[in-house]
Amino acid sequence: MRAAVYFKHGKPEDVLQAVDVEDPKHPDHNEVLIRVLLRPVHHGDLLGIAGRYQPGAALPKEGVRVGFEGYGIVEEAGSGVDLKPGTRVAFFPGRGAWSEKAIVSAEYVTEIPDDVSDEAAAQLHVNPLTTALLLRAVETSGAKPGHDVVVLTAAGSAVARLVIGLLLDRGFDVVGVVRREAGVNELNVVFPDLPVVSTDKPGWRDKVVAAADGHPIGVVLDPVGGDTASAAVGLLAQGGSLVSYGDLSGQPISVPALYFSTRDIRLSGVTVGRWAGLPVNVRKADLKLALELAASKPELFLVEQTFDLADVAKAAALVEKPGKSGTVLIASR
Ligand SMILES: NC(=O)c1ccc[n+]([C@@H]2O[C@H](COP(=O)([O-])OP(=O)(O)OC[C@H]3O[C@@H](n4cnc5c(N)ncnc54)[C@H](OP(=O)(O)O)[C@@H]3O)[C@@H](O)[C@H]2O)c1
Repeated sequence: MRAAVYFKHGKPEDVLQAVDVEDPKHPDHNEVLIRVLLRPVHHGDLLGIAGRYQPGAALPKEGVRVGFEGYGIVEEAGSGVDLKPGTRVAFFPGRGAWSEKAIVSAEYVTEIPDDVSDEAAAQLHVNPLTTALLLRAVETSGAKPGHDVVVLTAAGSAVARLVIGLLLDRGFDVVGVVRREAGVNELNVVFPDLPVVSTDKPGWRDKVVAAADGHPIGVVLDPVGGDTASAAVGLLAQGGSLVSYGDLSGQPISVPALYFSTRDIRLSGVTVGRWAGLPVNVRKADLKLALELAASKPELFLVEQTFDLADVAKAAALVEKPGKSGTVLIASR
């Protein structure tokens, strides 16, 4: 079978390749062998390939198989697993999702109902589960609908769109921050009444404050870091929280020390990388939310382009291109 592999850390488009490897053997007890048909390319995958999580770590001689999320059909179920061959499933986390076949623990395999498209199923886990984590972080912050404003940076991203939709459903006032003026209209196509401010114009922080209309900014949800997050922290009301969930700028967040002592500002972060370790009842509720979103809001699971596995390097390069309007998928049908 073919698998996306890298042998050294580096720029994803330079180091990723599709190579022939041995097919996986039969699944063990409580495992599932899945023929993977589609998988998304996440910024987090690219950080791993670039070596940003563990700089300088040595890689195995046979290379590293990429990917943790995918969609496909059951080829064979191990003992103790009640899934018939041919069943549509998605999975996360499962190693080597960017391979034509993967063996995954049945605990992390989700059966896909008929009302969820293949493309949405391929995006069922990482982004919607991150959305669930971010909603819990908003809840934990103590912010209340109708009282506090939630600001999202990189508000046009796939994750942010899911979060905005659910925050609005729950009655929160939300302000979106994007980096390009054109991104304002793009986001208003999906959320017509959402106040959206672009950082490429001077005075964007004042515009966010004006959009909050006198309400306290209780939470900033930020995957950018750098200047954007540093400026956004300054917008938080007394006791407000910045929740970091990404590093798109690659730059540190800088916060004046007095914000902590005098304004009780809190900084925290979430990662879907720890989701598999959450209690079963929490994971079940998160998956229920993910399936509801995938079935009821397909417009939030847009696909920018689908590449064949052979073009894995091109797929990775497209993910970082400004102005995308959906997720990049890799197919092996
Ligand atoms: N913590 C977790 O577990 C977790 C899980 C999933 C995703 N994430 C993170 O969530 C973020 C969004 O992921 P996604 O897949 O939803 O993204 P996406 O759909 O690819 O969209 C990326 C968005 O970020 C904007 N952007 C890119 N670089 C930027 C920069 N340097 N400054 C400001 N804005 C920038 C882009 O703006 P343009 O429209 O102008 O190009 C675009 O709107 C990523 O950082 C990702 O790593 C975290």
